[in-house]
Amino acid sequence: MKKGNSKNVFEVYNKIADCFAENRYQGLMEKKYLDELITHLDARSEVLDLGCGTGIPILGYLRNQNLNVTGVDASDKILALAKKNFPSTLFIQSDMRHLSLNKKFDAIIAWHSFFHLPAEDQPAMFATFEAHLNPNGILLFTSGTTHGEAWGSIGGEDLFHGSLSTREYQDLLTAHDFSVLKHQINDPDCGNANVWMAKYTPVFKTV
Ligand SMILES: C[S@@+](CC[C@H](N)C(=O)[O-])C[C@H]1O[C@@H](n2cnc3c(N)ncnc32)[C@H](O)[C@@H]1O
Repeated sequence: MKKGNSKNVFEVYNKIADCFAENRYQGLMEKKYLDELITHLDARSEVLDLGCGTGIPILGYLRNQNLNVTGVDASDKILALAKKNFPSTLFIQSDMRHLSLNKKFDAIIAWHSFFHLPAEDQPAMFATFEAHLNPNGILLFTSGTTHGEAWGSIGGEDLFHGSLSTREYQDLLTAHDFSVLKHQINDPDCGNANVWMAKYTPVFKTV
């Protein structure tokens, strides 16, 4: 069986950018999660969309709710499409594993993007989430449910997905001062997404 790039999946997105843009479902089945996220935010809150893709439909929906959204993606081809879709939005090209924006947000979304990282690269991302969130900030991400890898296919390219176990995600969230607000496993109304929503409440430790 043909297998592809498992370390830098964004390079695959450079090859399939147009195909992804044409085939990405745009019916906003994620709306209930985005709306729940928004209940924790104020008008003009700052949202970081990590692995934003073309911005359609998620980033666009959030923009329409008057939120200030910044998009990050590692694929230059994908980002070119995003910039065309939303010319007035700030997009930053970065591998999320090396993200260091020196700015904090009120929410971070990593929808169907964080799960493209190999399992061994995922734990360190929780410190990155922490570093980019204000206290009481919300993290919304999708993941797998069992430790390992899974392969999909798009535009003739194999597409890698990595995952920790549910228990490992729970432990990482707790260790990084996140409390789980919602964990929906394999939501049939949302493409069987495994969705996490968590609130960052940093515990200030006294020495
Ligand atoms: C399935 S798409 C999801 C895009 C968008 N979040 C959405 O829901 O439509 C995955 C995106 O993650 C990006 N990506 C993959 N690995 C990445 C990485 N290490 N850092 C930043 N972005 C990455 C890809 O370039 C691609 O745009």
